[in-house]
Amino acid sequence: MLKQYSYAERPDLIKQVRDMIRRSWPKFMLQDPIADRLWERMEDEFANFQFTLSDDNDRVVAMGNCMPFVWDGTPEGLPAQGWDGVFQQCFRDKDEGRPPNTLSALQAVVAPDQQGKGLSRLVIEAMKQIARQHGLTRFVAPVRPSLKSAYPLTSIDRYVCWVCADGAPFDPWMRVHWRMGARVIRIAPDSMTITGRVADWERWTGMRFPETGPYIVPGALVPVHIDTEQDEGCYVEPNVWMQHPPVSE
Ligand SMILES: CC(C)(COP(=O)(O)OP(=O)(O)OC[C@H]1O[C@@H](n2cnc3c(N)ncnc32)[C@H](O)[C@@H]1OP(=O)(O)O)[C@@H](O)C(=O)NCCC(=O)NCCS
Repeated sequence: MLKQYSYAERPDLIKQVRDMIRRSWPKFMLQDPIADRLWERMEDEFANFQFTLSDDNDRVVAMGNCMPFVWDGTPEGLPAQGWDGVFQQCFRDKDEGRPPNTLSALQAVVAPDQQGKGLSRLVIEAMKQIARQHGLTRFVAPVRPSLKSAYPLTSIDRYVCWVCADGAPFDPWMRVHWRMGARVIRIAPDSMTITGRVADWERWTGMRFPETGPYIVPGALVPVHIDTEQDEGCYVEPNVWMQHPPVSE
């Protein structure tokens, strides 16, 4: 039986979480400037919304990040920039004193050696529980369709329409949300924008980028655009907004 702790309850587990996150993502995914700037504020000011699932020996096997914000309930009212947009809007709402009504998932990670056992659902359930505890009736997620990295040349609009024989989404991570009742309500074509010098991209990916052009990079959902003349590489990640059923008391 896994135990759920917020960062506020068990700050001693945060170091394990950080190690797990570092091991779980391609290096370039940890270079988003907006998340970088606001990450510590999220951990401090919304410590009750960040959590671990750990075993009896205090080993963290999964974790989740989520944050509250104000949403009018329409697809157009969601932050257009998905993941980046949630960070910005959540702190704007907080700084301007607007009481939130919606929880947004931000990240779910299952320890690499525990993946494929169905734990991801527990992470989403834990987020719903947090929404309930805070009186937030709506629950949404800018979902990163994880298997799209195998189809970087397919447009996000086409990819999200791919379905299995039973009508469930083709993408396994979207499928987890879908089985819990969530549905796609909007595409966030530029959910995360990561730029860097060509040497940064070479360090992050272990690849060489000898000339200007689009490159397929392991773990990236779309090609990375490299401009050797400008000495810049840019990755704009598309995500998909999914809305879960209303969270009841
Ligand atoms: C995405 C992630 C959270 C899923 O967690 P998990 O506990 O391993 O997933 P589950 O065991 O619940 O499996 C969920 C579905 O994905 C499928 N799946 C699991 N690993 C897979 C893989 N490597 N390739 C394809 N499908 C996979 C499972 O078969 C299941 O599909 P089903 O609906 O047909 O049963 C986990 O892989 C992870 O932490 N990845 C790195 C971080 C990440 O991408 N987070 C999500 C975006 S924030």
